Amino acid sequence: LYEDGVPLGPRHSLHEDIRTLGGGRYAHWVHQLYFSTTDHSDPNTNGRSYQYSIPLRLFRRPADEPEVDPTLPVNHRKRDARPDQIAADVQYAIKVGKSYLTFIQSHLPSLIGKTVLEIGPGVNYGSIMLLAAHGAIPIVGDRFLAPWDRPYHPRFYAQLRDELVRSDPRADVRGLNALIEADSYLDSVVRRVISPVEQLPLPTGSVDVVLSNAVVEHLYDLEQSFAQLARVTRVGGLGFHQVDFRDHRNFDRPLEYLLLARDEFSTVFAGCHGECGNRYRPDETTACLQAAGFDVLDFTGNLFCKADYLTEFIPRLRGCRSPYRNRSEDDLRIISGRYLLRRRQ
Ligand SMILES: C[S@@+](CC[C@H](N)C(=O)[O-])C[C@H]1O[C@@H](n2cnc3c(N)ncnc32)[C@H](O)[C@@H]1O
Repeated sequence: LYEDGVPLGPRHSLHEDIRTLGGGRYAHWVHQLYFSTTDHSDPNTNGRSYQYSIPLRLFRRPADEPEVDPTLPVNHRKRDARPDQIAADVQYAIKVGKSYLTFIQSHLPSLIGKTVLEIGPGVNYGSIMLLAAHGAIPIVGDRFLAPWDRPYHPRFYAQLRDELVRSDPRADVRGLNALIEADSYLDSVVRRVISPVEQLPLPTGSVDVVLSNAVVEHLYDLEQSFAQLARVTRVGGLGFHQVDFRDHRNFDRPLEYLLLARDEFSTVFAGCHGECGNRYRPDETTACLQAAGFDVLDFTGNLFCKADYLTEFIPRLRGCRSPYRNRSEDDLRIISGRYLLRRRQ
């Protein structure tokens, strides 16, 4: 970034520093650039020119490599169908699917005939297809539902099927076989709902279990989303949500987004399709779930901030304009956790 042709900086500065210290500090994130002028003057009226340049390599990338086009939501990018990637995706889907299964089996005698909704399944529906192999009726719902990708999905589901049968010869893989044979998603195998959770078009009380992994932190409106999940879940139905409370822009600095003032954060969140995380903390999430009609049977934190990062972060938080500036250290420490829910009468 240049002011009258002179490079500005430091780049990658904190928004708080750009606002209070200025001096040419700047930061960019997806489509947004936050910057300050060298002398605190208003760039709209100070008569100077501001320009930026980016390497040709980055400029070309969206067109040449659609799988990394940063302007598309991840689910709508072309899939990486290299064997290593598919093998890794299968292992991940099985890991998440097994954690769902363990939870459900500890609360329900059998999955057979139970309607199970996974919100935000991501690039494939492997985890819920694992539950389907145990008799569940699967539904997926996503704002950006990933379409069938010819080079990727047939291989992914074939490998998943082989793994499931290898670990349990009784696994019911007829659904997976049908998808592979049709080379397409089939509503008769997995119902697909293209919708934000905030407006789920499913009948009231029609779902036995709602599941999600790394989705709740991306929702725009928690109150409305949980109200919809409560509406579609039958009374006594279950919920399992693994939530990642980190700032997704840099997992090594997981609380940075808490420094932003409300308006600044809204711009960042919208600019990246919510992919940076909505920054609701665990207690706020619990309160929204309870208000929507869920009993929180359990919340277990399963990832925690490093002590040295927290020590360095707290003074910066206390000195900023963020609504989180008075949060206790204990609150801030939890950066990932799992909710177990039951729909109240
Ligand atoms: C980080 S990905 C997680 C994907 C997958 N569950 C996993 O564990 O890898 C978040 C998913 O939530 C979806 N999502 C984000 N906001 C949503 C919303 N408001 N309604 C429905 N889905 C949403 C995204 O499209 C994406 O598929």
